[in-house]
Amino acid sequence: MLTVAIPKGALLKDSIRLLKAVGLDFSTFLESGNRQLQITDPTGTAKALLVRNSDVSVYVEYGQAQLGIVGYDVLREKAPNVAQLVDLGFGGCRMSVAVKASSPYRSSLELPLHGRVASKFVHCARDYFETLDLPVEIVPLYGSVELGPITGMSEAIVDLVATGNTLRENGLIEIDVLFQSTARLIAHPLSYRLNSDNLNHYVDQIRSQIKAAVGV
Ligand code: PRP
Repeated sequence: MLTVAIPKGALLKDSIRLLKAVGLDFSTFLESGNRQLQITDPTGTAKALLVRNSDVSVYVEYGQAQLGIVGYDVLREKAPNVAQLVDLGFGGCRMSVAVKASSPYRSSLELPLHGRVASKFVHCARDYFETLDLPVEIVPLYGSVELGPITGMSEAIVDLVATGNTLRENGLIEIDVLFQSTARLIAHPLSYRLNSDNLNHYVDQIRSQIKAAVGV
């Protein structure tokens, strides 16, 4: 049976809506109080796994899910061995460098040599500062990275910015953007090549939905 890995959190609603539009109904995941992590669509056509955004590519890479929906930020950070098929357009955000608004820094290159940069996206952060040829110490965190500069533990953070509210409410400002991110449809490479469980049909349907939504 076709299995789709769906991300919890910010991408969940749009992911469910998109899959519903191509005939796969996993809206049980949106019901308050739902604790099920694996459900089958009412027609018995496909199964969905509810996983963290950062774990979607793991299930797809290992082949437990043939399809997955995941943020481009995660694909950049983890560089998983999956086929990247469609830019789904939703979940727009950017990976940015931010500092305390009261700090003197207004671009990444002004940060002090060997200063600290806190991030959940250590590979993205490291690659970025290497590109700038600016040696910094990347401090890995799992969340609430804004506290790095607030507490003085780090000069800067590399983190996702969507509305900008989290930065604003914590007295931080963006000084550089590494890249833009949106949700992507990914597939297990071999399953995609072999068209396992009629996977290509759903990929085509999703592509058409996205094209119709952006009017091309
Ligand atoms: C992300 C990100 C920022 C926030 C940005 O955190 O790490 O903290 O969202 O969104 P905004 O610009 O719309 O305010 P997330 O909600 O994933 O929580 P986490 O830090 O606990 O991972």
